[in-house]
Amino acid sequence: MLKINKNYQKIKKNYIFTEISNKKDKYLKENQKAKIIDLGIGDVTLPLGKNLVKVMEKALAEQAHRSTFKGYPPENGYDFLKDQIIKYYKRRNVELNRKDVFVSNGACCDVTNILDLFNKNTTVIANPTYPAYFDSNFLQGNSIILESASVQNDFVLNPKNLNKKSYLIYLCSPNNPTGTVFSKNQLKQWVDFALKTKSIIIFDCAYESFIDDVKLPHFIYEIPGAKNCAVEIASFSKMAGFTNLRCSWTVVPTELKIGNQSLNNMWERRQCTKFNGVPYLVQKGAEYALSEEGFKECKKNIDYYKKNLKMLLKNLKEVGIETYSSQHTPYVWFKCPNKYTSWEFFDILLTQCQIVGIPGVGFGSAGEGFFRFSAFGRRKDIIEACKRLKKAHL
Ligand code: MLT
Repeated sequence: MLKINKNYQKIKKNYIFTEISNKKDKYLKENQKAKIIDLGIGDVTLPLGKNLVKVMEKALAEQAHRSTFKGYPPENGYDFLKDQIIKYYKRRNVELNRKDVFVSNGACCDVTNILDLFNKNTTVIANPTYPAYFDSNFLQGNSIILESASVQNDFVLNPKNLNKKSYLIYLCSPNNPTGTVFSKNQLKQWVDFALKTKSIIIFDCAYESFIDDVKLPHFIYEIPGAKNCAVEIASFSKMAGFTNLRCSWTVVPTELKIGNQSLNNMWERRQCTKFNGVPYLVQKGAEYALSEEGFKECKKNIDYYKKNLKMLLKNLKEVGIETYSSQHTPYVWFKCPNKYTSWEFFDILLTQCQIVGIPGVGFGSAGEGFFRFSAFGRRKDIIEACKRLKKAHL
């Protein structure tokens, strides 16, 4: 008999977002007239910017001519996009070179695939946080330390309770689901801890474009020493609306080593073997999205979602619900009213308001009693959701 990966028995049968989607489908089957408003998975709803689409149409047209046709893309990205990413970091005074940057097809893939570089370690993960971190670490057979980042510590994870040993450390800022953003000082504590303990930080900044305060760090490399202890993973999904097109980047600095082993060389080796690159036309769109002009176009959509966030926060407060999100996130994180558990509140919202959200406990045990709404919806749906919340007796 072949041996299977028994770690699959350690994780829940369904991934949280699949579970929610199944529940929504079941409800719709039983209530065919229901007009559900889906504030669950954080998926964008606004179309791509017009200029961005023009750039991609032009790139697609190039594939129609022998002289400009392209076959496989370079596994780690075209230089034109790497150079644009390098420029994007320069705006925040971070210097990178082409070898540091790896273009990829999604932050979710890279935050989990990066585990290929490591073998049976202890991983520190915030509780609550993005569920792919703990699922993938369970599957890998790693030991996991879940560090609570909830009301009692203002949702900010801190290394002070950890033993001084080497860990893999997942940090997400702005955090999904709580919206917390590390200040420079808070992030420095993690970088200093990682340097001292020879730990590696996997910094997920998929929502950095939602940060509105210039003083807050977008990238971990804004902190001195981070290139010696951190990998960083960013995404075009929420910033440019690429959840369908798929494009992201990962920075593995050439300085980053464990003993004599370069993680940059290992990641390059891994990607060349297991990944065939991102389509040319998608990379052309991504290049445009990071240009000054393109970013302005993307920012309009980001601002629209942030207005949704404000409306949801305001309305929840008005019905007496305690909310916690910062303004630097597309997610509304709030306490379930009347001491409901997360799943109880999910059912109440679905049946009374026909609104779908994500139970906080789906992001880890410390999310029990909390709930998350996505602000990526269409404005008319957000307005309607607010009306229904006000009408319902929660
Ligand atoms: C979320 O809803 O947390 C994310 O959008 C899902 C994802 O990025 O995989």
